[in-house]
Amino acid sequence: MYLRRLEVRDFRNYARVGKDFPAGVVVLHGPNGAGKTNLLEAVCAAASGDSPRARTTEELVRRGCGHGFVKGEFAGDDGPAKVEVGLARTGQRQFKVNGVVRRRVDLIGVAPTVYFSAEDIEVVRGEPAGRRRLLDRSLCSVSAQYYADLGRYRRAVVQRNQLLKELREKGKGENALAPWDRAVARYGARVMVAREEFIAELAPEVEGAHAAVAGDTIPLAVEYRPAIAAPSEQSAARAREGRAEVVEEVSRVLERALVERRAADVRYGATGWGPHRDDIALLLAGEPVRVYGSQGEQRSCAVGLRLGLAAVMRRMTGKRPILLLDDVLSELDARRRAGVFAACADSEQVIITCCDEQDIPVEVRESGAVFAISEGQVS
Ligand SMILES: Nc1ncnc2c1ncn2[C@@H]1O[C@H](COP(=O)(O)OP(=O)(O)OP(=O)(O)O)[C@@H](O)[C@H]1O
Ligand SMILES: [Mg+2]
Repeated sequence: MYLRRLEVRDFRNYARVGKDFPAGVVVLHGPNGAGKTNLLEAVCAAASGDSPRARTTEELVRRGCGHGFVKGEFAGDDGPAKVEVGLARTGQRQFKVNGVVRRRVDLIGVAPTVYFSAEDIEVVRGEPAGRRRLLDRSLCSVSAQYYADLGRYRRAVVQRNQLLKELREKGKGENALAPWDRAVARYGARVMVAREEFIAELAPEVEGAHAAVAGDTIPLAVEYRPAIAAPSEQSAARAREGRAEVVEEVSRVLERALVERRAADVRYGATGWGPHRDDIALLLAGEPVRVYGSQGEQRSCAVGLRLGLAAVMRRMTGKRPILLLDDVLSELDARRRAGVFAACADSEQVIITCCDEQDIPVEVRESGAVFAISEGQVS
């Protein structure tokens, strides 16, 4: 898949832009504050209806305007697709696919993108929540089932927590938790098994992409670290039985753990354990990159993680995602910069930002399309 044309109106610092882009490498360069990240964000919004970094719709609408708009025209093996997203400062969004009004969930899989941002370093370096968010966003972008299950799981946890707080006030009535234990366990198990399967697919891809970027032989390992009831312990069962039985088994383990922890959960007024506390371990030569990695190593791992995600998404959707790489090259030495492009070689389109055009290896610059960004203008 590739972005053939982008139209933007009153989005971030852009008043009005309409640009055609070729497949292959697209370089966006310009000074700090020019609008490079905003343009990548517009591509994301045009592809998925959402921004990977904005917390509110309001942020996306140009200051002083009531409405913003992005339109992406995509081309690829499965034919063209046109996505339009209307953004109101008040928060409403409207989505159209090929001219027909749709829900946001209907955009899943239409034009898959993988977005690398500077914040990805925090995924490697920071708290588990960042890694969970990455995992959830990736899975949601390829699986409407996961999107639904995760939503149900979260709602069940919120409702269980509400009841926990009420019980803390009352000081009795733990048995009332039973239906919520069951709901949390049922949807939590689906979430956990999907995560485990996804990471099993992801791990070899990340290892390969990281090796291409880093150009050395220290392997990067990715491992699922569930907070409770490792589904991998059920992998023997999985070989014997089907997936549904594995989900059922994980659900039983999770429910039992929830029942056992009721008293502690009532004391805290919150559900202490479950997939909302899962983590992913990133290990370089067996050691956590978070703790021991250098800046450049952590960045290479973050890039490897994103490119690995792109490879898995490609397999799951049958479409090659558009790679959006924001400021990926800083802190990397020349060999690793070249490695980034080597790792992206079989992507249909890579849109990459940098402050200085010279950061792009010369052979890539000569074969790609280069756009200068300044003060909300693309030329
Ligand atoms: N809703 C908005 N309305 C108007 N301007 C905005 C809005 N949101 C962000 N901006 C402005 O957009 C400008 C460009 O931001 P952007 O993050 O795209 O820069 P950049 O080119 O990526 O810079 P850097 O190289 O520092 O990463 C910023 O100066 C910011 O203040
Ligand atoms: Mg930027």
